[in-house]
Amino acid sequence: MKDGFLGFRTSFMLDFVVVALVLIVPILLYSLYMVKYQRRFTLHRNLQLLLGVILLVAVGLFEIDLQFVQKGWQNVVAKRTIPLTEEQFGFVRTVLRIHLVFAISTPLIWAMTIILALRRMPSPPQPCPHSELHKKLGWLSTIDIVLTSVTGLVFYYFAFVAKY
Ligand code: HEM
Repeated sequence: MKDGFLGFRTSFMLDFVVVALVLIVPILLYSLYMVKYQRRFTLHRNLQLLLGVILLVAVGLFEIDLQFVQKGWQNVVAKRTIPLTEEQFGFVRTVLRIHLVFAISTPLIWAMTIILALRRMPSPPQPCPHSELHKKLGWLSTIDIVLTSVTGLVFYYFAFVAKY
């Protein structure tokens, strides 16, 4: 287990966060379908809060593992059976930086979307004057989390899976 459970030389928490990022996308699409086409506002709120908690726990544990247990992503990459050349390592670092742009902005914008919705929308939730801003923030949050997920998987592939 110390090398993860997806079959590559990573870490348990890295694999855990990869699975969480993949699972989040279909739940999010379902929640958006429910609010946009079925007008199931309370279900949408509950699903979004659940996703928020999953994100917070997964990313929190992941960061603790990566920073304090593994002591940096470089140490995880160093577990590869065939080490990366300097050029490949540079490429992987660039992919990681792109991923971090989305990964860092996502929790901030998710928190803002959730906090404003809980404060400004009625309970049980209904369309209201905050709807217009909520829809903009909601779609921005959606795009951000999808890009976090996609770029995270690209990083995982080039850092741990690719044979080059
Ligand atoms: C990060 C969390 C959330 C995201 C990403 C999100 C996303 C969205 C999106 C994209 C829409 C617009 C769908 C469309 O185009 O018609 C929407 C609508 C809505 N959301 Fe959220 N939402 C989140 C959290 C919440 C929460 C916590 C509540 C309730 C407190 C809520 C209540 C609503 C309601 C009532 C609508 C319908 C607005 C209307 O049609 O006038 N959402 N949400």
